[in-house]
Amino acid sequence: MADVTVAGSIGVGHSEAAAVVGAAGQEVRLYGLSKFYGDFKALDDIDLTVAPGEFLTLLGPSGSGKSTLLMALAGFVAPSHGDIFVDGRSIAALQPEKRNFGVVFQGYALFPHMNVADNIAYPLRVRGLPRDEIEARVADALSLVRLEPLAKRSPRQLSGGQQQRVALARALVFRPQVLLLDEPMGALDKKLRHELQLELRQLHKRLGTTFVNVTHDQEEAMAMSDRIAIMRAGRIVQVGAPRDLYDRPESRFVADFLGKSNFIDGTVSALDRGIALIDTPDGAIRHRVGDRPLVQGDPVLLALRPQQTRVTAVPGDNAWAATVEAAIFLGTHAELTVVTGSGMRLAVNLAMEAIDALPAEGATITIGWSDSATVAVLPD
Ligand SMILES: Nc1ncnc2c1ncn2[C@@H]1O[C@H](COP(=O)(O)OP(=O)(O)OP(=O)(O)O)[C@@H](O)[C@H]1O
Ligand SMILES: [Mg+2]
Repeated sequence: MADVTVAGSIGVGHSEAAAVVGAAGQEVRLYGLSKFYGDFKALDDIDLTVAPGEFLTLLGPSGSGKSTLLMALAGFVAPSHGDIFVDGRSIAALQPEKRNFGVVFQGYALFPHMNVADNIAYPLRVRGLPRDEIEARVADALSLVRLEPLAKRSPRQLSGGQQQRVALARALVFRPQVLLLDEPMGALDKKLRHELQLELRQLHKRLGTTFVNVTHDQEEAMAMSDRIAIMRAGRIVQVGAPRDLYDRPESRFVADFLGKSNFIDGTVSALDRGIALIDTPDGAIRHRVGDRPLVQGDPVLLALRPQQTRVTAVPGDNAWAATVEAAIFLGTHAELTVVTGSGMRLAVNLAMEAIDALPAEGATITIGWSDSATVAVLPD
C-alpha cells in the first residue's frame, strides 16, 4: 500500500498528461429502457439523461439493476425495449466497440500476461494506431494515473489500487467521451477507496469526460457524484444532487438508503401558512410543508434525521418526552436510541461538542427538533 502513496495522486496539474484529454464529454440519454430476463424485469422503463461532462452515479441495493443498466449502455446487454442516445444519435444498434466508451468493469480484469504499458496500449493496438502514437499516448496515460515507474511490471506485481489505476488508464487511453465504471473500487479497503474516490473525482474534473459510475456504497456516491440516480427493483426512483437527495428524499426508501432516518406516522390535522399540524401517537407536532403538498385529514409519513434531533428541546421546537434505551459513543459523535411514550423508537445523534450532555441509559429526557427538520415522504 505504501507504493500507492508514493505514486501520488492522479493527474493534478501535469501538463504532459494533457494529451490524454479528449473532446468534452457527450450527453447520454436513456429513453424507455427495459430489460426482461424471461418474465423477470431487470430494468423497468428507465428514462435518464446524463449531461455532457457530468459525473452521475447509479446507486441502489444489490439486484436493483445497476450493472444491467451499465451493460446495456456499454452494449453487452441488449435492451428489450427503449433506446439509448449519445449526443442525440441512437446507438442501440451499435456493437460495444463502436460505441467508443471507456469501460472499467469488475469482470474486465487486466491481461495477466501483459505488462502495465502493454495493457494500457491494448485498446490503441486494436484500433490500429501507429506505433509512435501508441507510445506517446501510453506515456500520457501512465502519467495521468501516476504510474510511470511501474510501466514494465506485470499486473500480479501491483497492489489492488494500482491495478485499478491501470484499468482506468486503459479505459481512458483512447480518449473516450464517456466512461462507464461498475464498482471500480469494490475490492479495495476503506482507506484506499477513499483516496481513489478523491482522485477519480479530480480526474473527472480535469478531463471533462461524462462519467457513469455504479456503486452500492452511499458514501462513495455522495463523495464523488454531481448527481445520483437511486435505483430500486429495476427503476430509477429519484435523481438529484447528493445534497438534494439527502435533504429532500421523496420516499421512505430514499431517506433510508441515503443516510439514516427516523420515520413518524401521523395525520394532517390542520394547515396554516406553510405549517402543518400533525397528529401522532405521541401528540401533535408541527411540520413545515416542503415539496410534497399535504391535505388536511390525510395520513402522512415524516422522515427525521437523527442528527437533526436534539436531546434538549429549544424554544419553538417540537418536544417529546423519551427514555434513553442505549447511548453509544462513536468517536465523531454519540448515538442514542430513545423510546417515546407511545413506544416509538428513535435514533438521536449527539455532536462531539455536546458530548458532555450525553444522558445516561434509562434517563428520561426531552427530545426536540425544529418544524423544518421533518420531510414528508411517500411510504415506500
Ligand atoms: N443474465 C441474467 N439472467 C437472469 N437474470 C439476470 C441476469 N443478469 C442479471 N439478472 C438479474 O437482474 C437483476 C439485476 O441485476 P444487476 O446485476 O443489474 O444488479 P446490481 O444492481 O448490479 O446488483 P449488485 O449490487 O449486486 O451488483 C438481479 O435480480 C439479477 O439476478
Ligand atoms: Mg452490479
